[in-house]
Amino acid sequence: MSSSILTARNLSKVVASAEGELTILHDLSLALNRGDSLAIVGSSGSGKSTLLGLLAGLDLPSNGTVALAGHDLAALDEDQRARIRAEHVGFVFQSFQLLDSLNALENVMLPLELEGHADARQRAHALLERVGLGQRLTHYPRQLSGGEQQRVAIARAFVAEPDVLFADEPTGNLDSHTGERISDLLFELNRERGATLVLVTHDERLAHRCQRLIRLEGGHLVDHVEP
Ligand SMILES: Nc1ncnc2c1ncn2[C@@H]1O[C@H](COP(=O)(O)OP(=O)(O)OP(=O)(O)O)[C@@H](O)[C@H]1O
Ligand SMILES: [Mg+2]
Repeated sequence: MSSSILTARNLSKVVASAEGELTILHDLSLALNRGDSLAIVGSSGSGKSTLLGLLAGLDLPSNGTVALAGHDLAALDEDQRARIRAEHVGFVFQSFQLLDSLNALENVMLPLELEGHADARQRAHALLERVGLGQRLTHYPRQLSGGEQQRVAIARAFVAEPDVLFADEPTGNLDSHTGERISDLLFELNRERGATLVLVTHDERLAHRCQRLIRLEGGHLVDHVEP
């Protein structure tokens, strides 16, 4: 049996722009096994967030296929993809995307409540303690600093113990000490639970803790480093 959790074949993404069609991702293929960790690096505009969105099934490619936990994402409708994501995926967005009307604890509880877990509050509380926000449980996103919001977003992505954790610049707004703590937490989940990590990062230290690294340039995969 293959232990492949995520396979992308010949992915491209073409978007409409004022100058006509623009290819922002060119024919990219990739396969990850359970427990792998992958860093995606490249300069601003090189296609990193685009690739992450395609791999997580948040967006569909113009060409090519993504298989996540054995499901061909293109063969599913939006509701079915949402279900696969809820079951298998945690996602930390570059822009956090916390719900403004929910406090920190409620934001982190949400994925568990959607799945009907009775212990949502305890698990969310424990995880917020772990990211250093035990004293900020009832703060709303607007009452939190950028780095604190980022840590809430990371706790929310972790709380349902996903098979694959996608994170777009998870340490981007954090000082180096807090960033290191968050990196440790990511790799603990990777080690303890066999979660696969797919991280977009400009943080060299974080990138080098990953087993594999790919570099994008203008939507092309230009470098693929494996151990
Ligand atoms: N829907 C869209 N329509 C047109 N262009 C787009 C669209 N989405 C992304 N792009 C363009 O595609 C390129 C890649 O965008 P992407 O967000 O993937 O870059 P990135 O590598 O994540 O950059 P950053 O490091 O700044 O976050 C950019 O030049 C962006 O302007
Ligand atoms: Mg980006």
